[in-house]
Amino acid sequence: MLSLTLSAAVALSLPDLINAYSWQWQSVPNQCGNIDIQVSGGSPPYRVLIIPSGSSPLPNNIEVRKIIDQPSDSSSISFKLPYPADSQFVAVVSDSTGFGSGGASAAINVADSNDSSCFDASQNVQGKWFFNLDPPQQIVQCQPTRIWWTPGNVTGQPTFFGVIPQGNTFVIPVSNVQNEDGTGTGFNWTTNIRSGTTLHIIANDNTGNGTGGSSRNTVLDSLFQDSSCLSSNSPTTTSGPVAGGSLPDGSGGGSSSSSGGGTNTGAIVGGVIGGVVLIIAVLLALFFWRRRNREHRTSEKRQVDLLQAEAEDDRPGRQELPQYYQPEPFIVPDPSSDTASYRMTAYTDAASEGRPLSTDYDTSSRSGTPDPSGAASSSVGTRKTAPRTFRPVNIIQHDDAGPSEQGGKEEEPETIELPPAYTNIRK
Ligand SMILES: *[C@@H]1O[C@H](CO)[C@@H](O)[C@H](O)[C@H]1NC(C)=O
Ligand SMILES: *[C@@H]1O[C@H](CO)[C@@H](O)[C@H](O)[C@H]1NC(C)=O
Ligand SMILES: *[C@@H]1O[C@H](CO)[C@@H](O)[C@H](O)[C@H]1NC(C)=O
Ligand SMILES: *[C@@H]1O[C@H](CO)[C@@H](O)[C@H](O)[C@H]1NC(C)=O
Repeated sequence: MLSLTLSAAVALSLPDLINAYSWQWQSVPNQCGNIDIQVSGGSPPYRVLIIPSGSSPLPNNIEVRKIIDQPSDSSSISFKLPYPADSQFVAVVSDSTGFGSGGASAAINVADSNDSSCFDASQNVQGKWFFNLDPPQQIVQCQPTRIWWTPGNVTGQPTFFGVIPQGNTFVIPVSNVQNEDGTGTGFNWTTNIRSGTTLHIIANDNTGNGTGGSSRNTVLDSLFQDSSCLSSNSPTTTSGPVAGGSLPDGSGGGSSSSSGGGTNTGAIVGGVIGGVVLIIAVLLALFFWRRRNREHRTSEKRQVDLLQAEAEDDRPGRQELPQYYQPEPFIVPDPSSDTASYRMTAYTDAASEGRPLSTDYDTSSRSGTPDPSGAASSSVGTRKTAPRTFRPVNIIQHDDAGPSEQGGKEEEPETIELPPAYTNIRK
């Protein structure tokens, strides 16, 4: 079991190895500052796609962030980021092998700076064209979404990228593009992505990537919980290190990145340590659980002992009902019976002292035991000699609980109607 747990824990924290190469942030992106990325491996030329994420932090929600698709022949990539502070973006690195081969970063927050010269905070930016979704603004797990546009300003056949922050990137397959009344030109795409996943769709045409803008959706659950489209190859967030790793200030890399982009050794070591910690935690939990069980059992045993040696009452730690859930017995004492009076005083003793009453005092079992008067046991016997105080009780019989059944003065005579007997009809 131990080795099984260990291998499972290691497998869980092993990198997903979905990206052919890695890359790493070299500086914390700030307002109007530079994006600095170092790529390790892959084949140039590289491309970095910067996708705005979340709402604009500027007054009146003015959107100044344009999608940036930056090519680079060098593995040291640097370019200006004209985004305002406290806005977010996702970066996707590609090499010559295809879109998103380097993976997608987590959503990165733009840090503040004293430079705001790179954007006009009074004017919204706009793409060359835009696309729509049908059903409007909805993407549902395993359901078709129609992605459509008005052809006017589109150059050539549009393409669409899907980007899951901290996860997979893919090209949305475009097929069977058709014109439809009301929903322009477009195609149906069945979303093979699990509900709850954040998905960016980026629209491209022949004039550039991102010219048609982007959308950000959380994939919704289907009405019928349809998961027939999902497989192990479905695009998802990664459980391994996040592309881009953590920022130099330690932020922005997502939860599972500690090694940076260089090697995966750190992640593997972290995984093994994590697995060992997990095993220790499980073993500790098991130990305490078993110990608690044992304690529980011994306390049960002690209770049984108490029941048999019933004269030795008043021992703490008995398992009893809480005081307020105990029935308070009302027993009429037989003045001629020593046993009965003893029994009753025992009850009142316990009750007046605020101690919980125990079912050990069950009258039937007690009555079977011949009690030598006044000497049942030393502890009870000594208390018996002390003067007793009884609670004063007033008994009031209420008789106003509605009309009585008998002797009601205003009872109305009841009328019973029977169906006609037809006995006096002559033929
Ligand atoms: C921004 O601050 C730095 C020092 O932190 C200073 O050198 C630079 O001149 C400032 N720039 C502007 C535009 O104020
Ligand atoms: C095309 O672009 C122009 C200028 O940006 C705009 O006025 C026009 O509405 C666009 N046409 C369509 C069909 O989007
Ligand atoms: C696309 O899906 C819609 C319903 O979501 C359907 O009405 C339409 O016929 C589909 N179009 C194609 C080309 O499959
Ligand atoms: C868009 O991005 C892809 C993949 O990064 C690239 O191959 C392609 O050349 C880009 N398209 C344009 C028009 O720049």
